[in-house]
Amino acid sequence: MTRHFLRDDDLSQSEQTTILDLAVELKKDRFGTRPLTGPQTVAVIFDKSSTRTRVSFAVGIAELGGIPLIISTANSQLGGKETAADTARVLERQVAAIVWRTFAQSGLEEMAFGTTVPVINGLSDDFHPCQLLADLLTIREHRGNLAGLTVTFLGDGACNMAQSYLLAGATAGMHVRVASPVEYAPSGPAVAAAEIVAANTGGSVTRFTDPVEAVAGADVVVTDTWVSMGKEGEKAERITTLGAYRVDTELMRHAKSDALFLHCLPADRGYEVTAEVIDGPQSVVWDQAENRLHAQKALLTWLLQQ
Ligand code: CP
Ligand code: NVA
Repeated sequence: MTRHFLRDDDLSQSEQTTILDLAVELKKDRFGTRPLTGPQTVAVIFDKSSTRTRVSFAVGIAELGGIPLIISTANSQLGGKETAADTARVLERQVAAIVWRTFAQSGLEEMAFGTTVPVINGLSDDFHPCQLLADLLTIREHRGNLAGLTVTFLGDGACNMAQSYLLAGATAGMHVRVASPVEYAPSGPAVAAAEIVAANTGGSVTRFTDPVEAVAGADVVVTDTWVSMGKEGEKAERITTLGAYRVDTELMRHAKSDALFLHCLPADRGYEVTAEVIDGPQSVVWDQAENRLHAQKALLTWLLQQ
């Protein structure tokens, strides 16, 4: 049966490890693995803006021997004029895989249902699982392992990055803490799903409202924009409510002295993170951005073998 990657817990712990191991190999030898030789085409569809996802998929597909077909929804029939299911029926006869950045997770589920080629979530309102593969790869490179590490996400706990940290971190056996005001707490179903995963991997999931308590002793500190795509109309209110969760040098002092700082980018310096932290010695954000390429190449390679 065709495997899709719509959310982080679509992979078991051992599958996640296999993909991360493969990413390490592909990073060492960028042009040695060419599963898309033909060349086969991969459709990469955007309903929202992107720099990293667009570039890393385009470059990665080319390096795997294939051709990236970048589609903006605004110039396609998808998004009002044609359903996701009908679009998938057309694409699956011509492309090797479909990557889609969209709003509702339900759209991705509709796109994947019964589709014979892998469908990959390039970011939805609920999850950003490709980013998490890159984040885990980055943490592993800097720390050597994942299981047992404590990672704290601060800010908008209901955003795609926070919810993906819950699922992917739990899958990796990490202790995932999410610190947010109650109005921006992760969704009940995302927390429940992560708790189920954590029970099998030795990880854990804990909610905090106090940012200092949440980062105490953490190995990894993560944040993301307070104003995700689609939430621009709530900017003023979000900046006021989330101000206490800004990652600055003082907050970082409560984490381990060698704690890593991650941010999926783009960053609003001065809001969710200060320039001193994101541009400082604990920040690994540029490795993290590069690792999108290697992690997604590994993901595509693995999905095409299933
Ligand atoms: N981190 C990330 O997905 O960046 P883009 O929005 O630029 O793709
Ligand atoms: N949470 C952010 C991530 C951007 C890569 C957003 O959805 O806009």
